[in-house]
Amino acid sequence: MHQTIEKLFDLKGKVALVTGGAMGIGKGIAIKLAQAGAAIMIVDIVPTAEAEYTIKEINDQGGNANYLQADLKDIKHLSLVLDHTINTLGDIHILVNNAGIFTYCPVTELTEELWDNTINLNLKSVAFLSKLVVKKMIEKKHGGKIINISSIDSLKPSGNLAQYDASKGGVRMLTRAFAKEVGKYGITVNDIAPGGINTPGVKKISGQTLSQAQQQAMQTQMQQFISMLPLQRMGEPEEIGNAALFLASEASNYMTGSTMVVDGGLLIM
Ligand SMILES: NC(=O)c1ccc[n+]([C@@H]2O[C@H](COP(=O)([O-])OP(=O)(O)OC[C@H]3O[C@@H](n4cnc5c(N)ncnc54)[C@H](O)[C@@H]3O)[C@@H](O)[C@H]2O)c1
Repeated sequence: MHQTIEKLFDLKGKVALVTGGAMGIGKGIAIKLAQAGAAIMIVDIVPTAEAEYTIKEINDQGGNANYLQADLKDIKHLSLVLDHTINTLGDIHILVNNAGIFTYCPVTELTEELWDNTINLNLKSVAFLSKLVVKKMIEKKHGGKIINISSIDSLKPSGNLAQYDASKGGVRMLTRAFAKEVGKYGITVNDIAPGGINTPGVKKISGQTLSQAQQQAMQTQMQQFISMLPLQRMGEPEEIGNAALFLASEASNYMTGSTMVVDGGLLIM
């Protein structure tokens, strides 16, 4: 059991699949896992040219990052994602289900299209990609780590994000359901619930086509949110990367079915 701290967090020889890793939180996670030695496959919807900056940033630091463009909303693409990762890098040890969309929408404006798009990416793709990956991990008998990115909204709705909150509540429960069934194969499944993190996605939400009143309401909600936070600031993607590194490493071996809250104190506001 006795080992150095360096060894405890060492991911050399491991392969990590990170969804939505071209930017934002996924990028912060991919960088951190690569720094610990894991080979990385980033799967994201953006064209390869847009993801190149992230891939180069990781590889310039001595990492091994690769890219596959895929729309994860469509579960027909998921077995291709798995096959491509295994053919390129070998067996998968770590899956980070991070890709997600969040669209500001009062419940009175909710559409079936927004509901389906959100649930299909944020929840359905997590269930079916996890299914494929754990089946492979069980077959290969090497165990593994599944890390789902839920949200603080799975514990406390921030408002005007009902479809998103429902999807993330689902991710939290999916984490527990998978953890219960696959623990006996040496696979741990946990989720990270980030609070407000500075990412392109959060900036984009501000640029959505909204009425002036909605825009104003949303900005007021955001300002109030930051000023009330105990830590008085938004988090950074690398701070979620640090939490993911813990969950991907041997340091978290006796932890499964848990939610790790990284929220600047939002829950105690
Ligand atoms: N930023 C926050 O404050 C915050 C808080 C809590 C939870 N989260 C969660 O963290 C995750 C990442 O959020 P972020 O803020 O980094 O968002 P982001 O929009 O900055 O990045 C999301 C990434 O997912 C990719 N993506 C979007 N649709 C996709 C699809 N159909 N197929 C494949 N990839 C797709 C995007 O191209 C992008 O690279 C999401 O699941 C989000 O719900 C974010």
